[in-house]
Amino acid sequence: MSMYKVFALSFLLFSCSHIVTVPLAPGEDRLKHQQVGEQAAIATQGPYASAAAQMILSMGGNLVDAAVASSFVISVERPQSTGLGGGGFLLYYKPGMLQPVSFDFREQAPLKAHSKMYLDAKGNEIPKLSLDGSMAVGVPGLVAGLFEFHRQYGKLDWDLVLGPAIDLAEHGFEVYPELAEAIKDRQSVLAQFPDSKKIFLNKEGKALVQGDWLFQKDLAQTLRIIAEQGDKGFYQGALAKKLTSSIVSHGGLWSKEDLSSYKVKERTPIYGNYKGYGIYSMAPPSSGGVHVIQILNMVENDELGKYGAQDPRSVHLIASSMQQAFADRAAHLGDSDFVNVPIEDLSSKNYALDKRRLIPKNRALKKDEVTPFKVKEIVEPDHTTHFSMMNNKGEVVVSTQTINGWFGSGLVAEGTGVVMNNEMDDFATKVGASNLFGAVGGSQNLVEPKKRPLSSMSPTIVLKDGMPLLGVGTPSGTRILTCVAQTLLNVLEFKMNSWDAVSALRYHHQWSPDQLRFESDLLPESLKEDLTEMGHDVVIKDLGCRIQLVKSNGAQLEAVSDPRGSGEARAW
Ligand code: DON
Repeated sequence: MSMYKVFALSFLLFSCSHIVTVPLAPGEDRLKHQQVGEQAAIATQGPYASAAAQMILSMGGNLVDAAVASSFVISVERPQSTGLGGGGFLLYYKPGMLQPVSFDFREQAPLKAHSKMYLDAKGNEIPKLSLDGSMAVGVPGLVAGLFEFHRQYGKLDWDLVLGPAIDLAEHGFEVYPELAEAIKDRQSVLAQFPDSKKIFLNKEGKALVQGDWLFQKDLAQTLRIIAEQGDKGFYQGALAKKLTSSIVSHGGLWSKEDLSSYKVKERTPIYGNYKGYGIYSMAPPSSGGVHVIQILNMVENDELGKYGAQDPRSVHLIASSMQQAFADRAAHLGDSDFVNVPIEDLSSKNYALDKRRLIPKNRALKKDEVTPFKVKEIVEPDHTTHFSMMNNKGEVVVSTQTINGWFGSGLVAEGTGVVMNNEMDDFATKVGASNLFGAVGGSQNLVEPKKRPLSSMSPTIVLKDGMPLLGVGTPSGTRILTCVAQTLLNVLEFKMNSWDAVSALRYHHQWSPDQLRFESDLLPESLKEDLTEMGHDVVIKDLGCRIQLVKSNGAQLEAVSDPRGSGEARAW
């Protein structure tokens, strides 16, 4: 049978006739992206990361050990997306807990940072300063976050858990298409820093291409130090000195205390209830949890399940809810340790109902018609990665980790192999300015020392009657929270199976720009016409989301790694 026929047949067999799903790439095997088993289910964005998780479990490790091992491996396997020079968020649940716990190991602004650091003397933004090189780098939290998570809940010895990552960094692997594309895209920035150049470009100074081998020997050595000394090995001592002096020598604002004073924060997850399902997601400094729940609340009383997932009425209501969420994001969201974020109001059912009433049945609201929440009292002033894991003991781990843009700031700190993030761009460089993802920044998200930049990352756990049902998350900037909200609706409201819930066609609205963005032109012409008639400005542009989903169906566990990406699902 020709490849095309196999492909067409699997598409016919597995997709629901009325749902447009994004097909697998030719030659891709669906088994790589979806598996069913009984012991554990794992979905990550890298085959080595999924294999490491399975290996650690087979060695007697628990789900936490597997998640930590996988995080370190994915840092090596996807250096364009995440790594020791970055940060993230993680939710974990095991039976007996009242609700999931969550860890915030987001990067933070250095002590010398200030709200005008990206502006010239006239108050204009200096192009690229928050994106490329040393000024873009926030103080990383990944190592501290994983260490703390493992210290509290891990079982195997810490150094054992780092083994697979050390091996992969030392012995290398072949550059895969997505990595080759990322290196090419960031080649000119990587070429500016000697260690970035040494690792990601070849001897002639050209980008490594698909099939070349990538070795990260310095990173292997850095991982060995962390394996031996724990988080102190990274935040204090010789390695911390190297990281700091590398940033300072390239003009950055770091000081010694930045690394030594970094602290992981445990936060109460944002909670919402959608038709009896308990939704737990990340609190500020991520905007993800607040807005995933806000979007679900706004459509909860509509009969979306009856209309169908890709019916114009459903798309209009969900997209209009996204539009409202992003208007609120720009006005109110920031690091809640520094600014007052009206979390309870924004995630309340009443607020959602008020805003839902303002959405006309057949007409898209224009940007200026959508007003953010008015606080009543005066208040004081395609690169990330995600994995989801679940086991048959009722434990779930979901974590989204990032260095922000492809290869972060582009700067590999000399002698460490660590790619430093450009998370500072997630701050508002000034009020009204947009970041890499076009998100509008407000005063709540201006730079302050030790403040953490606003994120959209939304690792999410769904519990039903106290038992885990779903673990979900994705990379892709502002699209993260809308892709997560849609995946939740696909399962909880539209009753899709796991595969369809992940592969169904997705869309996104972020208030500004005032556009309804579909990820591909697979949307039926009639749907496009109906939405356009309602006044939506429908544009076609990839969204970049790569949902990693795990689900429990009682005795059986399912894992789906988004077929749009190169990840791998394993369940056994
Ligand atoms: O925290 C955030 O929302 C962004 N720094 C995430 C960046 C991202 O997802 C890039 N992905 N493709």
